[in-house]
Amino acid sequence: MSPSPLAQLDQQTAELLSTIDALTSLDALRDVEATLTGKRSVLAALQKSLGSLEPDERRAAGAELQEARRVVTAAFDERRRLLERDARLESLESDRLDLGDVVTPDVVRPLAPGHPSLVAITQRELEDVFVAMGFTVADGPEVETDWYNFEALNIPPAHPARGMWDTFYVDLGEPETVVLRTHTSPSQIHLMEEAVAKGTLPIHAVMPGRCFRRDTPDASHLYAFHQIEGLVVDRGITFGDLAGTIETFTRAYFGPDITSRLRPGYFPFTEPSAEFEVTCTICRGEGCRTCSFTGWIELGGCGVLDPAVFDAVGIDSTQWSGFAFGFGVDRCGQMRHQLTDMRALTENDTRFLEQLS
Ligand code: DAH
Repeated sequence: MSPSPLAQLDQQTAELLSTIDALTSLDALRDVEATLTGKRSVLAALQKSLGSLEPDERRAAGAELQEARRVVTAAFDERRRLLERDARLESLESDRLDLGDVVTPDVVRPLAPGHPSLVAITQRELEDVFVAMGFTVADGPEVETDWYNFEALNIPPAHPARGMWDTFYVDLGEPETVVLRTHTSPSQIHLMEEAVAKGTLPIHAVMPGRCFRRDTPDASHLYAFHQIEGLVVDRGITFGDLAGTIETFTRAYFGPDITSRLRPGYFPFTEPSAEFEVTCTICRGEGCRTCSFTGWIELGGCGVLDPAVFDAVGIDSTQWSGFAFGFGVDRCGQMRHQLTDMRALTENDTRFLEQLS
């Protein structure tokens, strides 16, 4: 009788188990997997040799071999589980970041506190000047109907003066056209309507706020910009009151060296109308690029209220008269701080902004 092919099985199994025990890395484990438990393993070779045995012997040997395989495979799987766990712990450890490694004193700079923009600062200063002159401060909506932005201001549809304001339309629909206000003048209408409704005439108010025009931004134009509107409705108001108010404001805000002038102009809601200009603060009136070598900067418009506007809001123009003005807040900030380019106000360049803090 030939010796059983499994004569050495116990010893072979013991050797396999000690090889498995000696594996110290997952790479090594993968390298030897086929020779320990796979097709190239000793146990697989033994399996093949069982074919030469008698059926009874083969059955018994097969069972013995299967048990050996189960033990070896279980040891192998357990070894893999342990090595995987070690590898996971190792990578967790090596990936760990100590706060001290990433946050150095150099990185933890205290946050600089913010500050208002030049436009906000300018608006507040302008309000202060007018409040000191006896005006109250009001505001109005940035989105208006066509009626408030144009019609009530004596600018009917298709009036050629509409070309003075390149308008952003929000809705062209029925029943009313809606626009982003192109100037703060519609706030005059709201204020007069309210005063009529509440019986609170006279009015001495300024209304600052944001306006919008389809302008291409350049050194002296922004498509979203700010104006401050002024409105006085009282008894016996004349153009002289307007001119005096404008000059008093100019000196109070820009200082005694800067003066104002009114040039004849046209606005549908005032008669007579004027352009309001101040000495160029960049060249002090000498003439420079910013003032197109005129020595003067146009800030806005003004005039005596047209009776047609009083009619639109139901104020009796035989009893009341008034004046209005509207000028650029951004332009005032530009002149006061001698900015050659207004786009600096919207570009968020910290080199510019930090100079204001
Ligand atoms: N709303 C005019 C504009 O933006 C400026 C203006 C002119 C305002 C005359 C007024 C005024 O109150 O009376 O071009």
